[in-house]
Amino acid sequence: RFPVIIDCDPGVDDTAALLLASRMDELDIRGITTVAGNVGVDKTTANAIKVRHAMGEDIPIFMGADRPMFRDPVTAEKFHGEDGFGDVIYPKEISDNEIGEEKAWDAIYRIAKECNGELIVIAVGPMTNLGIALSKYKDLPQLIKRIVIMGGAAIGGNITPSAEFNIYVDPEAADMLFCCGVPVYMCGLDVTLKAYMTPEEIEEIGALGSFQAKLFRDVLQGGLKKYLGWGYKGVALHDPVAVLYAVDDSIFETHHVGIRVETKGLLTLGKTVTDLLSDKQMEHNAYIVTNVNREAFLEKVKSLMSKF
Ligand code: BDR
Ligand code: CA
Repeated sequence: RFPVIIDCDPGVDDTAALLLASRMDELDIRGITTVAGNVGVDKTTANAIKVRHAMGEDIPIFMGADRPMFRDPVTAEKFHGEDGFGDVIYPKEISDNEIGEEKAWDAIYRIAKECNGELIVIAVGPMTNLGIALSKYKDLPQLIKRIVIMGGAAIGGNITPSAEFNIYVDPEAADMLFCCGVPVYMCGLDVTLKAYMTPEEIEEIGALGSFQAKLFRDVLQGGLKKYLGWGYKGVALHDPVAVLYAVDDSIFETHHVGIRVETKGLLTLGKTVTDLLSDKQMEHNAYIVTNVNREAFLEKVKSLMSKF
């Protein structure tokens, strides 16, 4: 099994990603680290505790940064609800609401050491915790096998015309990832907008009947309405793409490319600049995921959710 840390800001699609991750036999989830992003870190941590309960597993949660490394916070309540949980009331009483005492970046380093170079970090929120970890622990890159992120895009953005939310919120931290020497696999909007679920497909998950399947459906409902309003066929499962990709890339299209993050641009702050389509090449430090077999992706989502 792959030892992984899931660094996240739940978040409605983060919630979907965690639920799916917990049913993947290939994953050994060593920790969930939380960060400020969609909402403040107190709320993303409270949401992670709810999702851990739904996952039915005893996974340690470590709280991370309450703000980006060098900038003011940017949040996304409009999409994720005031509570970051789609304003869905969690249906059960939670008795275990403990979290680890370590900060997220210290836990990432300790767990990476324990995993002897095998750790995969899946980061589906702003990359602040990893940025801090890389600044604090200079030998961390040698201890991580790969980093799979949801963030960025070769195409345009969603929070600005140029930038995707997770990268825009903390562009300096994101650029540290791309420069640290660990292979970074970027599941950005190029692929995640293609990994969407229509209203009928979301209902099919809810109809599986478990409370986790209904939770998956309910947290995605608010976002679904927004995507339909924007003219899409369904809601993009951004963060689940990174989790599924980390285990099996066979249903995705990937290219070895150069990627850096714009940290100064006036119109392009937070843009992930790539040489995917350019004849002027950059150092090939990363992988960009550009496509998915949506039918196969949905099959996997459904079969994982039916394990609850
Ligand atoms: C990303 O931003 C967040 O709002 C989502 O959870 C996802 O990680 C999509 O741009
Ligand atoms: Ca997220």
